[in-house]
Amino acid sequence: MLLAHNYQRPEVQDAADFVGDSLELSLKATELNTKLVVFAGVDFMAEQVAILNPEKVVLQPEPLAKCPMAAMLTPNIVKKFREKYPKAPIVVYVNSLAEVKALSDYVVTSANAVELVSKLDADTVVFGPDRNLAEYVAEKTGKEVIPLPDFGHCPAHLAITREDVEKAKLEHPNARVLVHPECSREVRAMADYIGSTSQMLRVARELGGHEYIVATETGLLYRFSKLGVVAYPASPYAVCTDMKKITLEKVARSILEGREVIRIDPRVAERAREAVKRTFEVLGVEAPWQRS
Ligand code: 13P
Ligand code: SF4
Repeated sequence: MLLAHNYQRPEVQDAADFVGDSLELSLKATELNTKLVVFAGVDFMAEQVAILNPEKVVLQPEPLAKCPMAAMLTPNIVKKFREKYPKAPIVVYVNSLAEVKALSDYVVTSANAVELVSKLDADTVVFGPDRNLAEYVAEKTGKEVIPLPDFGHCPAHLAITREDVEKAKLEHPNARVLVHPECSREVRAMADYIGSTSQMLRVARELGGHEYIVATETGLLYRFSKLGVVAYPASPYAVCTDMKKITLEKVARSILEGREVIRIDPRVAERAREAVKRTFEVLGVEAPWQRS
Protein backbone atom coordinates (compact mmCIF):
# COMPACT_ATOMS: atom_id res chain seq x y z
CA MET A 1 0.00 0.00 0.00
CA LEU A 2 1.22 3.47 -0.84
CA LEU A 3 0.21 6.11 1.68
CA ALA A 4 0.80 9.79 0.91
CA HIS A 5 0.45 12.96 2.94
CA ASN A 6 -1.74 15.83 1.72
CA TYR A 7 1.40 17.90 0.94
CA GLN A 8 2.84 15.42 -1.55
CA ARG A 9 3.36 16.23 -5.22
CA PRO A 10 0.17 15.76 -7.29
CA GLU A 11 1.52 12.75 -9.20
CA VAL A 12 2.48 11.02 -5.94
CA GLN A 13 -0.99 11.72 -4.50
CA ASP A 14 -2.53 10.27 -7.68
CA ALA A 15 -0.48 7.09 -7.37
CA ALA A 16 -1.31 6.59 -3.67
CA ASP A 17 -3.86 4.12 -2.28
CA PHE A 18 -4.72 6.64 0.42
CA VAL A 19 -3.98 10.34 0.92
CA GLY A 20 -4.59 12.09 4.24
CA ASP A 21 -3.40 14.10 7.23
CA SER A 22 -1.01 12.78 9.89
CA LEU A 23 -3.72 11.27 12.06
CA GLU A 24 -5.59 9.58 9.20
CA LEU A 25 -2.39 8.14 7.75
CA SER A 26 -1.18 6.57 10.98
CA LEU A 27 -4.64 5.12 11.64
CA LYS A 28 -5.07 3.93 8.05
CA ALA A 29 -1.85 1.94 8.26
CA THR A 30 -3.18 -0.04 11.24
CA GLU A 31 -6.29 -1.02 9.25
CA LEU A 32 -4.37 -2.35 6.28
CA ASN A 33 -4.15 -6.04 5.72
CA THR A 34 -0.73 -5.76 4.15
CA LYS A 35 2.83 -6.42 5.25
CA LEU A 36 4.44 -3.64 3.24
CA VAL A 37 3.67 0.09 3.50
CA VAL A 38 5.42 2.65 1.32
CA PHE A 39 5.09 6.00 2.99
CA ALA A 40 5.30 9.19 0.93
CA GLY A 41 5.94 11.82 3.56
CA VAL A 42 8.58 13.10 5.94
CA ASP A 43 10.58 11.15 8.54
CA PHE A 44 8.35 11.47 11.61
CA MET A 45 5.24 10.33 9.70
CA ALA A 46 6.93 7.20 8.36
CA GLU A 47 8.27 6.53 11.86
CA GLN A 48 4.80 6.95 13.33
CA VAL A 49 3.46 4.28 10.96
CA ALA A 50 6.34 1.97 11.95
CA ILE A 51 5.71 2.65 15.68
CA LEU A 52 2.03 1.72 15.40
CA ASN A 53 2.66 -1.24 13.09
CA PRO A 54 5.64 -3.20 14.42
CA GLU A 55 4.71 -6.22 12.30
CA LYS A 56 4.80 -4.25 9.03
CA VAL A 57 7.74 -3.21 6.87
CA VAL A 58 7.58 0.56 6.30
CA LEU A 59 9.58 2.08 3.43
CA GLN A 60 10.32 5.76 3.03
CA PRO A 61 11.26 6.52 -0.61
CA GLU A 62 13.51 9.42 0.37
CA PRO A 63 15.05 9.19 3.84
CA LEU A 64 16.42 12.73 3.48
CA ALA A 65 12.86 14.06 3.57
CA LYS A 66 12.96 15.22 7.17
CA CYS A 67 10.68 17.67 8.98
CA PRO A 68 12.85 20.55 10.23
CA MET A 69 10.40 21.28 13.03
CA ALA A 70 10.68 17.73 14.37
CA ALA A 71 14.48 18.13 14.39
CA MET A 72 14.13 21.19 16.67
CA LEU A 73 13.14 18.99 19.60
CA THR A 74 15.87 16.66 20.83
CA PRO A 75 15.53 14.00 23.54
CA ASN A 76 17.87 16.09 25.75
CA ILE A 77 15.56 19.09 25.61
CA VAL A 78 12.65 16.87 26.65
CA LYS A 79 14.66 15.51 29.59
CA LYS A 80 15.54 19.04 30.72
CA PHE A 81 11.90 20.15 30.61
CA ARG A 82 10.88 17.00 32.52
CA GLU A 83 13.30 18.00 35.30
CA LYS A 84 12.17 21.62 35.25
CA TYR A 85 8.41 20.87 35.23
CA PRO A 86 8.12 17.49 36.98
CA LYS A 87 4.36 17.82 37.59
CA ALA A 88 3.32 18.94 34.10
CA PRO A 89 2.42 16.26 31.54
CA ILE A 90 4.52 16.38 28.39
CA VAL A 91 2.42 16.41 25.23
CA VAL A 92 4.22 16.14 21.93
CA TYR A 93 2.99 16.84 18.47
CA VAL A 94 3.20 13.87 16.09
CA ASN A 95 5.79 16.03 14.27
CA SER A 96 8.55 14.75 16.54
CA LEU A 97 11.09 11.97 16.47
CA ALA A 98 10.47 8.48 17.87
CA GLU A 99 12.95 9.02 20.75
CA VAL A 100 11.09 12.17 21.73
CA LYS A 101 7.73 10.41 21.68
CA ALA A 102 9.21 7.66 23.84
CA LEU A 103 10.09 10.25 26.51
CA SER A 104 6.67 11.91 26.42
CA ASP A 105 3.32 11.28 28.05
CA TYR A 106 0.99 11.96 25.12
CA VAL A 107 1.25 12.22 21.32
CA VAL A 108 -1.24 14.39 19.42
CA THR A 109 -1.80 15.68 15.90
CA SER A 110 -3.17 19.04 14.81
CA ALA A 111 -6.56 17.29 14.54
CA ASN A 112 -6.81 16.33 18.23
CA ALA A 113 -4.33 18.46 20.25
CA VAL A 114 -6.99 20.81 21.67
CA GLU A 115 -9.31 17.95 22.65
CA LEU A 116 -6.55 15.97 24.37
CA VAL A 117 -5.19 18.91 26.38
CA SER A 118 -8.68 20.04 27.39
CA LYS A 119 -9.40 16.51 28.71
CA LEU A 120 -6.17 16.24 30.74
CA ASP A 121 -6.50 16.60 34.48
CA ALA A 122 -3.79 19.28 34.58
CA ASP A 123 -3.86 23.09 34.40
CA THR A 124 -0.31 23.29 33.08
CA VAL A 125 1.11 21.20 30.26
CA VAL A 126 4.42 21.18 28.43
CA PHE A 127 3.84 21.06 24.66
CA GLY A 128 6.21 20.80 21.70
CA PRO A 129 7.77 21.21 19.29
CA ASP A 130 5.46 23.67 17.52
CA ARG A 131 5.26 26.95 19.42
CA ASN A 132 2.30 28.16 17.36
CA LEU A 133 0.28 25.02 17.98
CA ALA A 134 1.18 25.29 21.70
CA GLU A 135 -0.12 28.85 21.70
CA TYR A 136 -3.30 27.82 19.85
CA VAL A 137 -3.93 25.00 22.34
CA ALA A 138 -3.51 27.52 25.20
CA GLU A 139 -5.99 29.91 23.56
CA LYS A 140 -8.60 27.19 23.04
CA THR A 141 -8.25 25.40 26.40
CA GLY A 142 -7.45 28.34 28.72
CA LYS A 143 -4.64 26.24 30.22
CA GLU A 144 -1.03 27.22 30.74
CA VAL A 145 0.90 25.64 27.86
CA ILE A 146 4.69 25.79 28.15
CA PRO A 147 6.33 25.59 24.71
CA LEU A 148 8.94 22.84 24.36
CA PRO A 149 11.37 24.33 23.20
CA ASP A 150 10.46 28.02 22.87
CA PHE A 151 11.71 28.26 19.25
CA GLY A 152 9.92 25.30 17.60
CA HIS A 153 8.29 26.27 14.32
CA CYS A 154 7.44 25.16 10.79
CA PRO A 155 9.33 27.23 8.19
CA ALA A 156 6.61 26.69 5.55
CA HIS A 157 3.78 27.93 7.77
CA LEU A 158 5.85 30.81 9.13
CA ALA A 159 6.29 32.00 5.53
CA ILE A 160 2.58 32.94 5.50
CA THR A 161 2.11 36.51 6.76
CA ARG A 162 -0.93 38.53 7.79
CA GLU A 163 -0.27 40.79 4.77
CA ASP A 164 -0.46 37.73 2.50
CA VAL A 165 -3.88 36.84 3.84
CA GLU A 166 -5.08 40.46 3.64
CA LYS A 167 -3.96 40.63 0.01
CA ALA A 168 -5.66 37.32 -0.82
CA LYS A 169 -8.87 38.55 0.83
CA LEU A 170 -8.82 41.73 -1.24
CA GLU A 171 -8.39 39.64 -4.40
CA HIS A 172 -11.07 37.11 -3.40
CA PRO A 173 -13.52 38.95 -1.15
CA ASN A 174 -16.03 36.07 -1.04
CA ALA A 175 -13.49 33.45 -0.05
CA ARG A 176 -13.41 31.96 3.44
CA VAL A 177 -10.05 31.62 5.15
CA LEU A 178 -8.88 28.18 6.29
CA VAL A 179 -5.78 28.17 8.49
CA HIS A 180 -3.50 25.44 9.83
CA PRO A 181 -2.70 25.90 13.56
CA GLU A 182 1.03 25.91 12.76
CA CYS A 183 0.51 29.45 11.38
CA SER A 184 1.34 32.50 13.47
CA ARG A 185 -1.20 34.06 15.85
CA GLU A 186 -1.68 36.98 13.45
CA VAL A 187 -2.65 34.63 10.62
CA ARG A 188 -4.83 32.48 12.88
CA ALA A 189 -6.68 35.64 13.91
CA MET A 190 -7.90 36.02 10.31
CA ALA A 191 -9.27 32.48 10.04
CA ASP A 192 -12.87 31.44 9.47
CA TYR A 193 -11.77 27.93 10.39
CA ILE A 194 -8.61 26.49 11.97
CA GLY A 195 -7.75 22.81 11.66
CA SER A 196 -5.58 20.02 10.31
CA THR A 197 -5.14 19.60 6.55
CA SER A 198 -7.91 16.99 6.26
CA GLN A 199 -10.19 18.93 8.61
CA MET A 200 -9.89 21.88 6.19
CA LEU A 201 -10.90 19.63 3.30
CA ARG A 202 -13.85 18.30 5.29
CA VAL A 203 -15.05 21.80 6.16
CA ALA A 204 -14.85 22.84 2.51
CA ARG A 205 -16.73 19.69 1.45
CA GLU A 206 -19.44 20.29 4.04
CA LEU A 207 -19.89 23.99 3.35
CA GLY A 208 -19.57 23.42 -0.41
CA GLY A 209 -19.99 26.01 -3.13
CA HIS A 210 -17.59 28.56 -1.64
CA GLU A 211 -14.15 29.82 -2.46
CA TYR A 212 -11.37 29.30 0.04
CA ILE A 213 -8.06 30.92 0.88
CA VAL A 214 -5.88 28.17 2.26
CA ALA A 215 -3.16 29.07 4.78
CA THR A 216 -1.05 25.94 4.81
CA GLU A 217 1.50 24.16 2.64
CA THR A 218 0.53 24.58 -1.02
CA GLY A 219 0.36 20.81 -1.70
CA LEU A 220 -3.08 20.76 -0.11
CA LEU A 221 -4.46 22.82 -3.00
CA TYR A 222 -4.29 19.78 -5.25
CA ARG A 223 -6.68 17.97 -2.92
CA PHE A 224 -9.06 20.93 -3.12
CA SER A 225 -8.88 20.90 -6.91
CA LYS A 226 -9.73 17.19 -6.97
CA LEU A 227 -12.86 17.98 -4.96
CA GLY A 228 -13.81 20.64 -7.49
CA VAL A 229 -13.51 23.34 -4.79
CA VAL A 230 -12.02 26.70 -5.72
CA ALA A 231 -9.08 27.38 -3.41
CA TYR A 232 -6.26 29.91 -3.46
CA PRO A 233 -2.95 29.70 -1.59
CA ALA A 234 -2.53 32.30 1.17
CA SER A 235 1.10 32.43 0.05
CA PRO A 236 2.93 30.72 -2.82
CA TYR A 237 5.99 30.59 -0.54
CA ALA A 238 4.42 28.12 1.88
CA VAL A 239 6.24 25.15 0.40
CA CYS A 240 7.67 22.28 2.44
CA THR A 241 10.74 21.38 0.43
CA ASP A 242 11.19 18.17 2.41
CA MET A 243 7.73 16.91 1.45
CA LYS A 244 8.57 17.67 -2.18
CA LYS A 245 11.79 15.62 -2.08
CA ILE A 246 9.65 12.54 -2.74
CA THR A 247 9.08 11.97 -6.45
CA LEU A 248 7.20 9.29 -8.34
CA GLU A 249 10.54 7.87 -9.55
CA LYS A 250 11.77 7.55 -5.97
CA VAL A 251 8.53 5.83 -4.97
CA ALA A 252 8.96 3.32 -7.82
CA ARG A 253 12.61 2.72 -6.91
CA SER A 254 11.67 2.30 -3.26
CA ILE A 255 9.16 -0.45 -4.15
CA LEU A 256 11.51 -2.23 -6.58
CA GLU A 257 14.53 -2.12 -4.28
CA GLY A 258 12.73 -2.38 -0.93
CA ARG A 259 14.32 0.78 0.54
CA GLU A 260 14.68 2.61 2.85
CA VAL A 261 13.30 0.46 5.61
CA ILE A 262 12.31 2.50 8.68
CA ARG A 263 14.03 0.94 11.66
CA ILE A 264 13.24 1.94 15.21
CA ASP A 265 14.77 0.48 18.35
CA PRO A 266 11.97 -1.84 19.60
CA ARG A 267 12.25 -0.41 23.16
CA VAL A 268 11.86 3.13 21.83
CA ALA A 269 8.91 2.06 19.68
CA GLU A 270 7.26 0.33 22.64
CA ARG A 271 7.54 3.44 24.84
CA ALA A 272 6.30 5.68 22.02
CA ARG A 273 3.33 3.32 21.53
CA GLU A 274 2.57 3.60 25.25
CA ALA A 275 2.33 7.39 24.88
CA VAL A 276 -0.02 6.99 21.90
CA LYS A 277 -2.10 4.44 23.84
CA ARG A 278 -2.38 6.85 26.81
CA THR A 279 -3.52 9.54 24.36
CA PHE A 280 -6.26 7.34 22.91
CA GLU A 281 -7.39 6.43 26.44
CA VAL A 282 -7.84 10.09 27.36
CA LEU A 283 -9.62 10.73 24.07
CA GLY A 284 -11.92 7.80 24.81
CA VAL A 285 -10.91 5.95 21.66
CA GLU A 286 -9.71 2.37 21.54
CA ALA A 287 -6.12 2.18 20.35
CA PRO A 288 -6.31 0.98 16.74
CA TRP A 289 -3.90 -1.94 17.20
CA GLN A 290 -6.09 -3.28 20.02
CA ARG A 291 -9.23 -3.48 17.93
CA SER A 292 -10.31 -7.03 17.20
P1 13P B 1 -1.61 17.57 9.28
O1 13P B 1 -1.63 16.55 10.35
O2 13P B 1 -2.61 18.67 9.50
O3 13P B 1 -1.73 16.96 7.93
O4 13P B 1 -0.23 18.35 9.35
C1 13P B 1 1.01 17.75 9.25
C2 13P B 1 2.06 18.74 9.04
O5 13P B 1 3.20 18.42 8.92
C3 13P B 1 1.67 20.12 8.96
O6 13P B 1 2.75 20.88 8.58
FE1 SF4 C 1 7.41 19.81 8.98
FE2 SF4 C 1 6.32 22.11 8.26
FE3 SF4 C 1 6.98 20.34 6.42
FE4 SF4 C 1 4.90 19.91 8.06
S1 SF4 C 1 5.09 21.50 6.50
S2 SF4 C 1 6.46 18.43 7.50
S3 SF4 C 1 5.69 20.83 9.95
S4 SF4 C 1 8.38 21.43 7.79
